[in-house]
Amino acid sequence: MPTVHRTPAFVAASSADELTAEFLLIPVFEHDDIGDMPWLTARAHGQVERARARGELTGKLYEVVVIVLDGERPMRAALVGAGPRESFTPDRLRRVAITGGLAARRARFTTVGFVQRATQIDSPTAAQVIAEGFTLANYDGASLKTGGDNPTWLDWVHVRLTAPDAASEQALKRGAVLGECTNMARALANEPGNVLTPRQFAERASAIASADGVAIDILDETRIAALKMGLLLGVAQGSQEPPRLAVLKYEPKDAVPGITLALVGKGITFDTGGISIKPAENMDKMKDDMSGGAAVICAMSAIARLRAPVRCLALVPMTENMPGGRAVKPGDVLTSASGKTVEILNTDAEGRLVLGDAIWYARQLGATHLVDVATLTGACVVALGKTTSGVFGTPESWVSTILRASEKAGDRSWPMPVFDDYKEQLKSEIADFTNTGGRAGGAITAALFIKEFTGDLPWVHIDIAGTAWAEETKPYQPKGATGVAVRTLVELAMAAGSWSKLEPRT
Ligand code: BES
Ligand code: MN
Ligand code: ZN
Repeated sequence: MPTVHRTPAFVAASSADELTAEFLLIPVFEHDDIGDMPWLTARAHGQVERARARGELTGKLYEVVVIVLDGERPMRAALVGAGPRESFTPDRLRRVAITGGLAARRARFTTVGFVQRATQIDSPTAAQVIAEGFTLANYDGASLKTGGDNPTWLDWVHVRLTAPDAASEQALKRGAVLGECTNMARALANEPGNVLTPRQFAERASAIASADGVAIDILDETRIAALKMGLLLGVAQGSQEPPRLAVLKYEPKDAVPGITLALVGKGITFDTGGISIKPAENMDKMKDDMSGGAAVICAMSAIARLRAPVRCLALVPMTENMPGGRAVKPGDVLTSASGKTVEILNTDAEGRLVLGDAIWYARQLGATHLVDVATLTGACVVALGKTTSGVFGTPESWVSTILRASEKAGDRSWPMPVFDDYKEQLKSEIADFTNTGGRAGGAITAALFIKEFTGDLPWVHIDIAGTAWAEETKPYQPKGATGVAVRTLVELAMAAGSWSKLEPRT
């Protein structure tokens, strides 16, 4: 596969003099006199003041104003709008770094400097999100184009922190890993369905896991059948491509006792809808229906590299959802590995089926805490739009733990209810339940379906149907796969020392 992302080298600089990059990025707040950077005003010869007088430089969030500096290095500076100083957050700093990184690449600079301004954000936090941001800016989706411009990549980023210390240097490294693993997930989701088949996806998972010393077991169709995973097999039977179940294991020596975190990701490499076939318009987007699977695999890579202090499993059921001659039909009844029977009313509700069997298997392998990530429902997109993932689960303490991790990661998410009342919508005449609950509360009934397989372990389901793919370019986000949830899962695993005390041990 051609390169679609690269991770720059990060160096902490202790003074402005060390910022010898070609291109300098400086956040500018609203009503910011930049008086703390006399060297900048001296070398810009009035451009800052003129840009401000023209109304070009206001400090508005994500505005970019490029000025020419005298001398050789840096030869240009970009003033990147950071909004009001009072409402500046690590999340905004990350996005300002992305905006600056993308501007640098557009101007074909490969070495950049970044100046941390004085705010209430501490240096290690700033260092991490800055490194995340520049790494996220070093991603390109259009990898299969022949000819045309070669993209420019950022090779190194010199970061001037207000209070550089050992913790900040570590944080730069951590941010680079978080950004890189997010980019790996984006690259996987970006790949066409004919390239990333279930078997290929499993191969990629193996390559990623073995690079980081994560154990991986790929179950083929025979072993999947031996485990009686009727839901996964039911979805796969409409395709010529055999299914796979990837199981990754990370076991650090210093793991918090009694806890096994299982991350389960939907790995539908292409979703046609099956016999309940989807309309032609936008069906091409359904190559990203494995984004949840990519997120958990790439999160495991970061978890291992950063030595998170918790035992982790990642499970990804991988299959196509196709309308072949042997495909599952509406009205068919499938028996899950857990023994529960499911009446298929709509073959396009396939994600919850494959997740049901994978979650059951996570429990067999000793999971104590569950998180699943899936491009599960159009209903979630209707409810929360394209920027925010839906978070469902129980108990409340586990849900809020995941919400905190996602906040830290800069993955927007919001809690949704899983009241038992909705379960009525899944009633079946002939099986334990159906696989669809109708239009009303479609994202919630999908979550309740998954809950049937969790055996009442602490469980959270993250619906990323709206957030996995960006339809429009934003200053801080290129079009295409977003790698959403990777950083949430890594932050969650890194914080295990604090949440493991809160949760019941089963
Ligand atoms: N992969 C889709 C969900 C989806 C829809 C993701 C739009 C991204 C954008 C999922 O498998 C699906 O088809 N869900 C159905 C469920 C319905 C049949 C109950 C849906 O949302 O329409
Ligand atoms: Mn579907
Ligand atoms: Zn799907």
